[in-house]
Amino acid sequence: MHKQSYSQPFYKDEQYCKSCHNEFSPGFGAMVVDTWGEWEKSSFNNPENPKKRRGCIACHMHGDISKIGEDVPGISTDGGRVKKNVVTHQVTGANHFLVGLRNPELEKMSIELLKTSASLEQSIT
Ligand code: HEC
Ligand code: HEC
Repeated sequence: MHKQSYSQPFYKDEQYCKSCHNEFSPGFGAMVVDTWGEWEKSSFNNPENPKKRRGCIACHMHGDISKIGEDVPGISTDGGRVKKNVVTHQVTGANHFLVGLRNPELEKMSIELLKTSASLEQSIT
Protein backbone atom coordinates (compact mmCIF):
# COMPACT_ATOMS: atom_id res chain seq x y z
CA MET A 1 0.00 0.00 0.00
CA HIS A 2 2.64 2.50 1.11
CA LYS A 3 4.94 1.46 -1.65
CA GLN A 4 2.34 1.80 -4.38
CA SER A 5 0.82 5.06 -3.28
CA TYR A 6 3.79 6.96 -1.85
CA SER A 7 7.04 5.45 -3.06
CA GLN A 8 6.99 6.68 -6.65
CA PRO A 9 10.03 6.00 -8.87
CA PHE A 10 10.56 9.72 -9.52
CA TYR A 11 11.60 10.20 -5.88
CA LYS A 12 14.82 8.41 -6.78
CA ASP A 13 15.44 10.73 -9.72
CA GLU A 14 17.25 13.93 -8.79
CA GLN A 15 15.37 15.85 -11.48
CA TYR A 16 12.75 15.92 -8.75
CA CYS A 17 14.97 18.15 -6.57
CA LYS A 18 15.61 20.38 -9.59
CA SER A 19 11.91 21.17 -9.84
CA CYS A 20 12.24 23.33 -6.69
CA HIS A 21 15.97 23.94 -6.21
CA ASN A 22 16.62 25.81 -9.45
CA GLU A 23 15.05 29.20 -9.10
CA PHE A 24 14.39 31.72 -11.84
CA SER A 25 12.85 35.14 -11.82
CA PRO A 26 9.22 35.02 -12.95
CA GLY A 27 8.63 37.06 -16.10
CA PHE A 28 12.30 37.55 -16.96
CA GLY A 29 13.38 33.94 -16.66
CA ALA A 30 16.78 34.98 -15.27
CA MET A 31 18.39 32.29 -13.14
CA VAL A 32 18.49 33.33 -9.49
CA VAL A 33 19.75 30.19 -7.79
CA ASP A 34 21.30 27.64 -10.12
CA THR A 35 21.84 24.75 -7.72
CA TRP A 36 21.10 22.14 -10.37
CA GLY A 37 23.33 23.76 -13.03
CA GLU A 38 26.21 24.11 -10.56
CA TRP A 39 25.96 20.48 -9.56
CA GLU A 40 25.53 19.31 -13.19
CA LYS A 41 28.82 20.93 -14.19
CA SER A 42 30.65 19.91 -11.01
CA SER A 43 33.11 17.09 -10.50
CA PHE A 44 30.48 15.35 -8.35
CA ASN A 45 28.47 14.75 -11.53
CA ASN A 46 31.51 14.23 -13.78
CA PRO A 47 34.04 12.27 -11.79
CA GLU A 48 36.89 10.38 -13.44
CA ASN A 49 35.80 7.37 -11.42
CA PRO A 50 32.02 6.75 -11.88
CA LYS A 51 31.84 5.25 -8.39
CA LYS A 52 32.62 8.70 -7.04
CA ARG A 53 29.53 10.29 -8.58
CA ARG A 54 27.37 11.93 -5.92
CA GLY A 55 23.87 13.12 -6.59
CA CYS A 56 21.68 15.39 -4.47
CA ILE A 57 20.16 12.45 -2.63
CA ALA A 58 23.51 10.78 -1.92
CA CYS A 59 24.68 13.85 0.02
CA HIS A 60 21.54 15.39 1.47
CA MET A 61 19.51 12.33 2.40
CA HIS A 62 22.19 9.87 3.39
CA GLY A 63 21.48 7.61 6.35
CA ASP A 64 24.89 8.31 7.92
CA ILE A 65 26.73 11.49 6.93
CA SER A 66 30.06 10.02 8.01
CA LYS A 67 29.66 7.28 5.39
CA ILE A 68 28.63 9.16 2.25
CA GLY A 69 29.28 7.00 -0.78
CA GLU A 70 28.65 3.77 1.13
CA ASP A 71 25.33 1.97 1.44
CA VAL A 72 23.73 2.08 4.87
CA PRO A 73 21.37 -0.90 5.21
CA GLY A 74 18.29 -0.51 7.35
CA ILE A 75 14.52 -0.49 7.56
CA SER A 76 12.29 2.48 6.89
CA THR A 77 9.11 1.18 8.53
CA ASP A 78 8.54 -0.89 11.68
CA GLY A 79 8.72 -4.52 10.64
CA GLY A 80 9.63 -3.56 7.07
CA ARG A 81 12.16 -5.44 5.00
CA VAL A 82 15.83 -4.53 5.29
CA LYS A 83 16.84 -2.31 2.39
CA LYS A 84 20.32 -2.22 0.93
CA ASN A 85 20.49 1.50 1.54
CA VAL A 86 18.05 3.61 3.52
CA VAL A 87 17.73 7.32 2.91
CA THR A 88 16.32 9.83 5.37
CA HIS A 89 14.45 13.12 5.18
CA GLN A 90 16.80 15.18 7.31
CA VAL A 91 18.06 17.12 4.19
CA THR A 92 21.35 18.00 5.87
CA GLY A 93 23.11 21.01 4.36
CA ALA A 94 21.41 24.09 5.69
CA ASN A 95 23.38 26.73 7.58
CA HIS A 96 24.90 24.83 10.50
CA PHE A 97 24.61 27.69 12.99
CA LEU A 98 20.90 28.25 12.42
CA VAL A 99 20.19 24.52 12.40
CA GLY A 100 22.21 24.19 15.61
CA LEU A 101 19.92 26.60 17.45
CA ARG A 102 17.21 24.01 17.02
CA ASN A 103 19.14 20.77 17.16
CA PRO A 104 22.87 20.30 17.96
CA GLU A 105 22.86 16.86 16.33
CA LEU A 106 21.77 18.35 12.98
CA GLU A 107 24.45 21.02 13.32
CA LYS A 108 27.09 18.29 13.67
CA MET A 109 25.71 16.58 10.55
CA SER A 110 25.85 19.82 8.54
CA ILE A 111 29.50 20.36 9.48
CA GLU A 112 30.31 16.74 8.69
CA LEU A 113 28.69 17.08 5.24
CA LEU A 114 30.69 20.24 4.52
CA LYS A 115 33.90 18.39 5.36
CA THR A 116 33.12 15.54 2.98
CA SER A 117 32.20 17.89 0.10
CA ALA A 118 35.11 20.25 -0.32
CA SER A 119 38.76 20.65 0.44
CA LEU A 120 40.73 23.87 0.64
CA GLU A 121 44.35 24.48 -0.15
CA GLN A 122 46.24 27.46 1.05
CA SER A 123 49.64 28.74 0.07
CA ILE A 124 51.40 31.70 1.57
CA THR A 125 53.73 33.59 -0.70
C1 HEC B 1 8.34 20.86 -3.61
C2 HEC B 1 9.55 21.62 -3.60
C3 HEC B 1 10.84 20.93 -3.16
C4 HEC B 1 11.37 19.75 -3.64
C5 HEC B 1 10.81 18.83 -4.71
C6 HEC B 1 12.64 19.57 -2.93
N1 HEC B 1 12.85 20.60 -2.06
FE1 HEC B 1 14.44 20.87 -0.83
N2 HEC B 1 13.55 22.45 0.05
C7 HEC B 1 12.38 23.06 -0.39
C8 HEC B 1 12.07 24.17 0.50
C9 HEC B 1 10.86 25.11 0.36
C10 HEC B 1 13.09 24.21 1.47
C11 HEC B 1 13.23 25.18 2.65
C12 HEC B 1 13.98 26.39 2.17
C13 HEC B 1 14.23 27.38 3.27
O1 HEC B 1 13.90 27.14 4.43
O2 HEC B 1 14.85 28.41 2.94
C14 HEC B 1 14.02 23.13 1.16
C15 HEC B 1 15.16 22.87 1.87
C16 HEC B 1 16.16 21.99 1.44
C17 HEC B 1 17.48 21.88 2.03
C18 HEC B 1 17.97 22.63 3.24
C19 HEC B 1 18.42 23.98 2.82
C20 HEC B 1 17.94 25.08 3.71
O3 HEC B 1 18.30 26.21 3.40
O4 HEC B 1 17.20 24.84 4.70
C21 HEC B 1 18.16 20.94 1.32
C22 HEC B 1 19.59 20.49 1.55
C23 HEC B 1 17.25 20.44 0.29
N3 HEC B 1 16.04 21.10 0.40
C24 HEC B 1 17.56 19.44 -0.62
C25 HEC B 1 16.62 18.83 -1.46
C26 HEC B 1 16.86 17.62 -2.22
C27 HEC B 1 18.16 16.83 -2.21
C28 HEC B 1 15.71 17.36 -2.93
C29 HEC B 1 15.44 16.18 -3.84
C30 HEC B 1 15.46 14.87 -3.22
C31 HEC B 1 14.75 18.40 -2.60
N4 HEC B 1 15.34 19.27 -1.70
C32 HEC B 1 13.48 18.50 -3.14
C33 HEC B 1 11.62 22.65 -1.47
C34 HEC B 1 11.78 21.47 -2.17
C1 HEC C 1 28.93 16.27 -2.61
C2 HEC C 1 27.76 16.48 -1.77
C3 HEC C 1 26.64 17.34 -2.31
C4 HEC C 1 25.92 17.14 -3.47
C5 HEC C 1 26.14 16.09 -4.55
C6 HEC C 1 24.88 18.14 -3.47
N1 HEC C 1 25.00 18.93 -2.36
FE1 HEC C 1 23.73 20.45 -1.83
N2 HEC C 1 25.00 20.98 -0.33
C7 HEC C 1 26.11 20.26 0.07
C8 HEC C 1 26.76 20.98 1.17
C9 HEC C 1 28.02 20.54 1.91
C10 HEC C 1 25.97 22.14 1.43
C11 HEC C 1 26.20 23.23 2.46
C12 HEC C 1 26.98 24.34 1.79
C13 HEC C 1 27.29 25.51 2.70
O1 HEC C 1 27.04 25.45 3.89
O2 HEC C 1 27.78 26.50 2.15
C14 HEC C 1 24.86 22.09 0.48
C15 HEC C 1 23.85 23.03 0.43
C16 HEC C 1 22.66 22.84 -0.28
C17 HEC C 1 21.46 23.66 -0.12
C18 HEC C 1 21.29 24.80 0.86
C19 HEC C 1 21.86 26.05 0.24
C20 HEC C 1 21.59 27.26 1.06
O3 HEC C 1 21.54 28.32 0.43
O4 HEC C 1 21.44 27.19 2.29
C21 HEC C 1 20.53 23.17 -1.00
C22 HEC C 1 19.09 23.66 -1.17
C23 HEC C 1 21.16 22.07 -1.73
N3 HEC C 1 22.45 21.91 -1.28
C24 HEC C 1 20.54 21.33 -2.73
C25 HEC C 1 21.20 20.41 -3.54
C26 HEC C 1 20.65 19.83 -4.77
C27 HEC C 1 19.27 20.12 -5.33
C28 HEC C 1 21.62 18.99 -5.28
C29 HEC C 1 21.57 18.20 -6.59
C30 HEC C 1 21.42 18.98 -7.80
C31 HEC C 1 22.75 19.02 -4.36
N4 HEC C 1 22.46 19.90 -3.34
C32 HEC C 1 23.91 18.26 -4.47
C33 HEC C 1 26.54 19.06 -0.46
C34 HEC C 1 26.07 18.49 -1.63
